[in-house]
Amino acid sequence: MSSGQTGTQTTSSPVAGARYSRIAGTGSFLPPNRVTNEDMVARLAQDGIETSNDWIVERTGIRARHFADPAVSSSHLGLAAARQAIDAAGVQASDIDLIICATSTPDMVFPSTACLIQRDLGIQGCPAFDVQAVCSGFIYALTVADSLIRSGSARRALVIGTEVFSRLLDFKDRTTCVLFGDGAGAVVLEASEQPGIVSTCLHADGQFSHILNVPGTIACGSILGDPTLKMDGQAVFKLAVSVLDKAAHEVLAKAGRDASCIDWLIPHQANLRIMQGTAKKLKLSPDKVVVTVDQHGNTSAASIPLALDHAVRSGQVQRGQTLMLEGVGGGFTWGAVLVDY
Ligand code: UT7
Repeated sequence: MSSGQTGTQTTSSPVAGARYSRIAGTGSFLPPNRVTNEDMVARLAQDGIETSNDWIVERTGIRARHFADPAVSSSHLGLAAARQAIDAAGVQASDIDLIICATSTPDMVFPSTACLIQRDLGIQGCPAFDVQAVCSGFIYALTVADSLIRSGSARRALVIGTEVFSRLLDFKDRTTCVLFGDGAGAVVLEASEQPGIVSTCLHADGQFSHILNVPGTIACGSILGDPTLKMDGQAVFKLAVSVLDKAAHEVLAKAGRDASCIDWLIPHQANLRIMQGTAKKLKLSPDKVVVTVDQHGNTSAASIPLALDHAVRSGQVQRGQTLMLEGVGGGFTWGAVLVDY
């Protein structure tokens, strides 16, 4: 597995005249249909498949997830989250000059979900594109937006993670269908004289593409291969714990800090045991971990901005605090972003 450093930015202390990016506002949206573990037990029982609330809670920490109605797509969820983030930042949609959307469940093959959200925000002209890094997608999107702001190519970016992962689930596979949900989160990231985003790292290792994937594709008007999610849960679990720890230390080292600076760990919300394991390795108390997986399930690229927005709106996360955002997912991809919020 590669352990190479990425070319992403480092900020140990602000440099006079330098340009940074900061999170100006956050937003999120969950489709109203809340599906509890008991609802999943009943749904699977219709096909003679056994599961239980106890198994799901004990192995994952998940108690409920939200599923979008069939007519609702990633762009609809992402638009609602984006509007909230724009309001929270105290700006207008017309002030946005870059849109990056992280999703593995786009509305269409093309155009990108980012372009559809741009259209629905009623703005034109600014660059808009999707990034596809599955559950690490938001970390990738935030890092790219930070780089474009630092370089002077953008001033105010809308960074969105949005998913309708329920569309990829095989409801006859109890090992995966109980884990995922739908939702969206967004941030407005704007240029600033102070960081903001302190340091970032991104990694991938395609050798592990087989342990988490949706192998199907579209060809000549048909679906070629299986279009549902496949996962070797134990292999993903082990790799996730290891790379999340390495990524956290990498961004801390780039910033010249240690883990004691972290007020809140906001990891990808896949499994409470992975999140607690990551905190333990960083010697952080479990109450420094923002947890929404219990209520949202795993919403892939949406999970980190959803958790961030919930923590901001609940008053957990306060201005002036330091946040460690971390993602891991299919690809295999992983990365981290250290933020002075
Ligand atoms: O977003 C990308 C990142 N994804 C992740 O981080 C997921 C990482 N992996 C995991 O979270 C865990 O591996 C799972 C939650 C997916 C599975 O937990 P586990 O402790 O690794 O369980 P297991 O796969 O070893 O399965 C244990 C048992 C098996 O039965 P046997 O073979 O011991 O008789 C499974 O068949 O649990 C059974 N099982 C279930 N039982 C009831 C699997 N799924 C279910 C279920 N209900 N839904």
